[in-house]
Amino acid sequence: MNHSRVTEFVLLGLSSSKELQPLLFLVFSLLYLAILLGNFLIILTVTSDSRLHTPMYFLLANLSFIDMCVASFATPKMIADLLVERKTISFEACLTQIFCVHLFAGGEMVILVSMAFDRYVAICKPLHYMTIMSRRVCIILVLLPWSVGLVHTTSQLAFTVNLPFCGPNQVDSFFCDLPLVTKLACVDTYVISLLIVADSGFLTLSSFLLLVVSYTMILITVRSRSSASMAKARSTLTAHITVVILFFGPCIFIYVWPFSGYSVDKVLAVFYTIFTPILNPVIYTLRNKEMKAAMSKLKSRYLKPGQVSAVIRNALFLETK
Ligand SMILES: *[C@@H]1O[C@H](CO)[C@@H](O)[C@H](O)[C@H]1NC(C)=O
Repeated sequence: MNHSRVTEFVLLGLSSSKELQPLLFLVFSLLYLAILLGNFLIILTVTSDSRLHTPMYFLLANLSFIDMCVASFATPKMIADLLVERKTISFEACLTQIFCVHLFAGGEMVILVSMAFDRYVAICKPLHYMTIMSRRVCIILVLLPWSVGLVHTTSQLAFTVNLPFCGPNQVDSFFCDLPLVTKLACVDTYVISLLIVADSGFLTLSSFLLLVVSYTMILITVRSRSSASMAKARSTLTAHITVVILFFGPCIFIYVWPFSGYSVDKVLAVFYTIFTPILNPVIYTLRNKEMKAAMSKLKSRYLKPGQVSAVIRNALFLETK
């Protein structure tokens, strides 16, 4: 047996079709740009408008920040890789991607729980909202995702960092993730694979369960009342629940359902690294009157009427004399 250490991995990337790569390059570059712009706009809007300085919008801005992290640890490399023939990644960079995906995805799950808790207090205990959601509690809700993510990713990495890699080094995805990388180790990884699935599964399922419980209680409360404020609550809820399903669906499928095929996993990984981060700004802003009002105020502060369309026309070289 050849026991030389593997120093780099080869990523097979999103698609093996040569003809498709330029198109994918264009599409994913635009999507990535939209993720950065959309989420940055949310953070800018929330921080610059004092009417949005409430726990709900602080959590939303923090979600946007995590979304940018989720979208940024692998996507830029994946996009650049679409242009090169041999997509390699060093052993250290591969471990870094594993660290990041579990830190950020774990953080995203927990911040969705924080947001659900905030809505639960607002809707089910409206009279105590101000006292329960104090500045301290708000900061805890913002820091909790990062601490849980850190503990989770450290425990996952502890299983992997000492594995010997000596032969096969092809990772059939566009970034390094644990199930794919442990499969390449040249020892029996059955127990480690089980531990990894159990660790991720525990975090995913317990967050998901907490979300289901809090949204069920919220929905029961909303159903029993029927005022105008409840209509607003209902639209916020629909937004939250959509995001939860879009994010947890693929994660549960990849980690908790151990029999899924790896090519399915690749498509699902696109879902949570790209589509969820782009959908959050869309879902939360287009459906939310307060966000829309704050954004148009921001626009009128920084841009004179007509200036936006002029900028766009210039950028597209459509300006006629
Ligand atoms: C996250 O939430 C805290 C308040 O709890 C807030 O001060 C901070 O600005 C938020 N972060 C972002 C990126 O908006």
